[in-house]
Order: sequence, then structure tokens, then C-alpha cells
Amino acid sequence: MTPAALPTLALRVQGLRKAYSDVIAVDGLDLQVDAGECFGLLGPNGAGKTTTIEICEGLLTADSGDVEVLGRRWETDEKDLRELLGIQLQDTQLSEKLTVDETLTLFQSFYRDARDIGEVIDQVELGEKRHSRVGGLSGGQKQRLAIACALVGNPQLLFLDEPTTGLDPVSRRQLWELISKFQAEGKTIVLTTHYMEEAERLCDRVAIVDHGKVIAMGTPRELIDSVDVSHLPPPEPRKTSATLEDVFVSLTGRGLHDE
Ligand SMILES: Nc1ncnc2c1ncn2[C@@H]1O[C@H](COP(=O)(O)OP(=O)(O)OP(=O)(O)O)[C@@H](O)[C@H]1O
Ligand SMILES: [Mg+2]
Repeated sequence: MTPAALPTLALRVQGLRKAYSDVIAVDGLDLQVDAGECFGLLGPNGAGKTTTIEICEGLLTADSGDVEVLGRRWETDEKDLRELLGIQLQDTQLSEKLTVDETLTLFQSFYRDARDIGEVIDQVELGEKRHSRVGGLSGGQKQRLAIACALVGNPQLLFLDEPTTGLDPVSRRQLWELISKFQAEGKTIVLTTHYMEEAERLCDRVAIVDHGKVIAMGTPRELIDSVDVSHLPPPEPRKTSATLEDVFVSLTGRGLHDE
């Protein structure tokens, strides 16, 4: 698949719905992500971000709605899509007994146009752990290995579900750099995060999700500028500029981390 065969729209989601028995996780969600964008999904715990992403990744089936990924559909183009996507799950479980190198060799074998393992290991700074077993890695190192697994297939579109949760500040910044470089190659990233600073730095556009719906979408700057800080509850009025968290508070009256 050449990049020329890729459409200008990386992701199109329309009227997406998904319920788990009586819990409505996604409730008529619409999204469009342009090719080459870094797009962020923000929202409180349980908002429906992971469910939405996992439907887009072809791992869950929606109850209704329409999903097109890189101009393709899961029902008809699954093989093609698997080659084009990189996926890091919110809760990746890798085999504890395999080494870093063996884990990536396994993932590499799934792809026709895979990347060099040494190069990917260097990119996530796991060189010193190349021959260590996964079971002996720290939480942050496991997280970086999960991202390496998402990168080894040389994807055009990378889905990252809370990629920097649990990373120390240095590793977080390294990952930001990795994401920026990936995007500089003209590729697309869809990520979720609870870190507002991260969304503001990395994302061209963000969607704020609440109760399974998009309640605001735009560039971080557009959303931040839309908030009148003088109307925020204390202590926010003391600030001169809003944050994405303030955008959420002003839209819902709740904090992003309220349950
Ligand atoms: N397998 C499941 N079975 C039952 N309910 C589920 C399941 N997965 C998710 N849910 C429910 O669906 C809703 C949306 O969950 P989801 O994981 O998509 O949220 P999220 O926005 O990713 O949250 P977080 O920020 O905590 O990761 C929640 O109410 C959750 O409890
Ligand atoms: Mg989630």
C-alpha cells in the first residue's frame, strides 16, 4: 500500500452507538480526523473513549453507526486495515516470559512491510532491555514496549490509548517527540489522554467526549479561547487563560476527573 492510495480523511465516525447491557458507552458519536493530524480524545473516566477507539480498531463491534478508517471498512477490508494500523491498548498484556526482542519479533511477523526491530527499540529507548524478559520490566518500560509493538508494523495510522499514563516525565517527553516525528512523516495519530498539557502540546485538534458523545471539538486554542474565564468557579477566575480542563468545566459544570 503506497501513501498515495490513502485518502485525505483518516477516520470518519458517524452516529456511533455501543451499549454493554444497560450501560450506554457510546451514544451517537461523530468524528472526523484528517490524514496527517494528531487528534486527541479527552473526557472523564467512563466517557466512552476506549470503546470508541476499540471500535475504530476493529476490536469491538458497534451496535449501530458508520466507521471508515483510511477510506476502508472493517466488514470488507480487514486484512488491508491490519497492515495500515498501529494499536496500543489502554491495558496491553504482553507475555511476561518473552524478551523485548522476542516480543517485537512476534509482532513484526504479523506485517508484510515491518520495520527493523533494533530501530524501533532505539526509538522507545529500550536498548538496554532488549534481552530482558517482559516480566522484569518496570510499568513505564512495559508501556514503551507496547508502543514499540504498535510501531513495528510501519503503520499509517497510530491509535494510542493513554500512551503516557504511568510514564515518568522524561519518558513522557521522549514519547511526545516520537509522536511528533511520526506525524512529521505525514502519518496520523489518534490518542486519548487525561493530561491537558499533553493534549495542548501534541494535538492539532481535540474532541471532548462526555457520556458517549462529542460535546466540543476544535484546536486546543479555539476551545480554550471559547471559555470566558471570569465565569469559572473559584479558583479559576484568578487565571488569565483557560485550559482544556476549564473548557470541560464550563460545558458540563463538572471536572474532567469527577466520577
Ligand atoms: N466490557 C465492558 N463491559 C461492561 N461495561 C463496560 C465495558 N467496557 C466499558 N464499559 C463501560 O462503558 C463505559 C465507557 O467505558 P470506556 O472504557 O469506553 O471509557 P473511557 O472514556 O475510556 O474511560 P477511561 O478514561 O477510564 O479509560 C463505562 O461506563 C464503562 O464502565
Ligand atoms: Mg479508556
